Amino acid sequence: MAKDTSKGPRHVAIIMDGNGRWATQRGRPRLFGHHAGARRVREVVRACPDLGVKYITIFAFSTENWKRTQVEVAGLMSLFRRYITKEAKALHDENVRVRFIGDRVRLDKKLIDLMDELEELTKDCTKVNLTIALNYGGRDEVARATKRLAEDVAKGILKPETVDEETLPRYLDTRVLPDPDLVIRTSGEARISNFLLWQSAYSEYEFIDTLWPDFSAEELARLVKSYGKRDRRFGAVPA
Ligand code: IPE
Ligand code: IPE
Ligand code: MG
Repeated sequence: MAKDTSKGPRHVAIIMDGNGRWATQRGRPRLFGHHAGARRVREVVRACPDLGVKYITIFAFSTENWKRTQVEVAGLMSLFRRYITKEAKALHDENVRVRFIGDRVRLDKKLIDLMDELEELTKDCTKVNLTIALNYGGRDEVARATKRLAEDVAKGILKPETVDEETLPRYLDTRVLPDPDLVIRTSGEARISNFLLWQSAYSEYEFIDTLWPDFSAEELARLVKSYGKRDRRFGAVPA
């Protein structure tokens, strides 16, 4: 019998945190944790359809993460290239549509090409929408969106007096995505670290202690179930 997923979150966003600590606990370099973390993604994405989750957005690299050592940053960039190359076929075979959000300007050409190819390869996939936030920052996204919006005003395409809450989201990287219903952060930190600032204005949050490389489909299922019991009011008084 089909499960009732009508009360579940349609869009889950995850701040995948704790890779470094996971590696340190094992006496290994931080990149060991990032590799272990990348391996969790497939299982989590695969679990989405049965849970009624149509959109999953994962935070892979923030606009602030450039502050890390050159070794860690280069290791992460190389991991992203390898990940895309290795997973592309499986994602396509599993009918997963992949999109990237974030600013591409600081990324290397080879990585940008792989991102473009994966988006193109999976553009007709319909089972799940996987969005990977790479060199993403909420403030940076809003600033870039505002710049484009201002350009449209200057060109006469957009009238300032028509700008409202519906206008800015059309300029955000997430323009084709619904707002996240549930935002999960692993590793025990209770902050959003510049993730989906505009979009998560009314999201439900789960801050859990699990380090990302230990996260599982079972844990996602538990959080989705608990979301179903929440009372989302959006400022109103329930009838
Ligand atoms: C999250 O894990 C992955 C990235 C930010 C790229 P961290 O690398 O932040 O792990 P901790 O927080 O140091 O344990
Ligand atoms: C947020 O984690 C970014 C990603 C998960 C990609 P960080 O580990 O960078 O965040 P802070 O530094 O703890 O706020
Ligand atoms: Mg961290």
